[in-house]
Formats: sequence, structure tokens, C-alpha cells
Amino acid sequence: MSKHILKHLAIIMDGNGRWAKKRGLNRTKGHEQGAEIIREITRYCAKYPTIETATFYAFSTENWKRPKLEVEFLMKMLDKYLKDELATYQEHNIRFQAIGDLTSFSKSLQKRIKETEELTKNNTSLTQVLALNYGGRAEITYAVNTLIEQGKSHLTEEDISSALQTPYSDIDLLIRTSGEERVSNFLLWQLSYAELYFTPTLWPDFTAKEMREIIENYEQRSRRFGGI
Ligand code: IPE
Ligand code: IPE
Ligand code: MG
Repeated sequence: MSKHILKHLAIIMDGNGRWAKKRGLNRTKGHEQGAEIIREITRYCAKYPTIETATFYAFSTENWKRPKLEVEFLMKMLDKYLKDELATYQEHNIRFQAIGDLTSFSKSLQKRIKETEELTKNNTSLTQVLALNYGGRAEITYAVNTLIEQGKSHLTEEDISSALQTPYSDIDLLIRTSGEERVSNFLLWQLSYAELYFTPTLWPDFTAKEMREIIENYEQRSRRFGGI
């Protein structure tokens, strides 16, 4: 059986709060440790020969329901992450892109995101995509409205795909940490034929070693895409 090539990996990074709670720490400590893991896994993906895109779910359209202080902390952490990470993006030849509705973020955070995208746009070893204020339904609805405004009717799948915010290949493998087995409004369109992998490991405990084992598992799977 030939191995399946892994081009686009998506990760729902879940379990930061539970990780902190287990240690008697504030939830924010779990998010801080979680940011370290994004760094490690992104570097792993950049080195992995076939992976072109790694999309990380960092903040959903539903996460605004969290306490104001936690949301503010996440915004500050994101700004710091992008600031600190720029040197690494350049050193490891990683292109950064954001998906989601960024207009709800502060002007300074929007500026940081745009600048980081611009400064890394010619990097080619990996595209790291952060999903920020992202929701799969919101993305599809926005795409359809854009097409309607352009006067299109009788939409095809290709029309919708091309109007989405995600010009990447379809997801090959989706990993969710923390034992929850749901999609939580992530990349609904792009996940149609993704292989799903759920691990009980909390995101702050996730390692490159586990990532390697999951990829090995993925490569052994039989992807039939409706065929036999
Ligand atoms: C994932 O961890 C990070 C974000 C959603 C921002 P959680 O914060 O959801 O952690 P749990 O699920 O409460 O443990
Ligand atoms: C999904 O995790 C969103 C992110 C990882 C950013 P949540 O913790 O918000 O999802 P639910 O509430 O358990 O579905
Ligand atoms: Mg969670």
C-alpha cells in the first residue's frame, strides 16, 4: 500500500485550561505553555518534507464568550508571539498567514498580523496559518455573500472554494488534543475528506514525538475518497 502524502495538517489545540487547572495554576499559564508548543510543532512541520501548510486553531468565533480577562490575555499573548516569532519565521523560512475575521481585533494587533504576513510572504518551507476569530460557518457565509455581490448565481463547488479565505490544499489530517472529539466550527468545508485523529494529550503536553507517531499512523491509513 502506498503511503499517503501529508501536505496540509490542521490542529485544534485544546486543553490549555485543564492543563493549568491540574497544576493549580491560572488558565493563562496553560495558554503560555501552549504557545511554546505551537513553536515546537511549527518547527517540526517546517522540517517535515511533505508538509506545505499547518493550520492551527488559536481563537474561534465562539471564544469571545470567555471571561474578558482571558480574552484580553489571549490577544496580548498573540501579539507577543508574533513579535517574538518573526526571527524564527525568517530563520526557518516559514511564511505566516492569518485566517478569520481580524476586524474585531485592536488596530495594533491587526497591524502586527499584517506586518508579519508581509515580512514573511516569500518564505517557502512551510505556511503556518493561525485561525484567529475564525469560524467555519462564518467563512462559508462570507464567501457566498461575496459571490452574490459579484452577481454570480448557480454557484459551483469551485466558486465557493475559491471565495473562501483559504487558498490552500484540502486538509489531509486533523488532530485535536485534549480528548474532545468534535470539530468546533473549524474548517468545515476544507475538512470534507480529512483523516481525523483525537488524542487525550492536553495541548501543553503535546510533543514532536507524538506528532511523528500520529503522522506514521496517518500514512498507514487507507484513504479511499469514496472509491474502493
Ligand atoms: C485551547 O485550550 C485554547 C483556546 C481555545 C484559546 P482551552 O482554553 O480551550 O482549554 P480547555 O479546553 O479549557 O482545557
Ligand atoms: C476550539 O476549542 C477552539 C480552539 C482551539 C481555538 P474550544 O475549547 O473553544 O472548543 P469547545 O468549546 O470545547 O468546543
Ligand atoms: Mg477547550
